[in-house]
Amino acid sequence: MAMSLSSSHLIARTADFVREKFLHEGSGHDWEHIRRVWQVARALAQETPGADPVVTELAALLHDVADWKFHDGDEEAGPRAARAWLQELAVEEPVISHIETIIREISFKGLGVPTPMSTPEGELVQDADRLDAIGAIGVARAFAYGGHKGRPLHDPSVPPVVHDSFESYKKNAGPTINHFYEKLLFLHERLQTPAARRVARQRQQFMEDFLAQFLSEWEGRDLAPA
Ligand code: ADP
Ligand code: NI
Repeated sequence: MAMSLSSSHLIARTADFVREKFLHEGSGHDWEHIRRVWQVARALAQETPGADPVVTELAALLHDVADWKFHDGDEEAGPRAARAWLQELAVEEPVISHIETIIREISFKGLGVPTPMSTPEGELVQDADRLDAIGAIGVARAFAYGGHKGRPLHDPSVPPVVHDSFESYKKNAGPTINHFYEKLLFLHERLQTPAARRVARQRQQFMEDFLAQFLSEWEGRDLAPA
């Protein structure tokens, strides 16, 4: 039986493991995304009495460790990879299963699909992950992902879809602008912690301004004198 590591050592080892794994990822699921989610989740945890900071930080670090999008749609790949790593560190079983649950619950699954988190730590990590999908960084990540998938920026002939099941959302392959109307513009309403809702306000405004400007340029409306 391995000796149990101190919390700060556990977090540092996990950060090293994830950094190593994701350093050269180019689809917007890179180490810097995880680093931001980790830092934001840690800050949100400080404003949330009752949330265990160690579970929050470990779950934030491991939340994308094996995303279904890159594992043939396998939703259990993430929880499984997190468990294997945490077992290697001899983390106690209740903490491991809590983190597995967070990873299982965290993903957006379509606008018509509720994604409640069953614990406060889960809410913090989900909010931190969603804050990183909106604002300037959210815009950049959406186009990075769309480019990675070879999708057009915009195609007005393809209407956005409200996905009512995770299966339908997973198959989604529309132009990147549609992703804003299918997900990103609605994330702010689904944040659960007051601290995250406060941060989201300006990010939301920026994203709405970006879309208005994008569509104005696309349609050539900014060419005409007002
Ligand atoms: P979540 O963290 O809720 O699981 P995802 O892992 O689906 O979110 O998304 C991670 C990043 O990839 C986000 O910034 C998201 O906007 C972007 N992304 C996911 N799907 C698409 C898509 N179809 N088009 C453009 N960007 C996408
Ligand atoms: Ni993420």
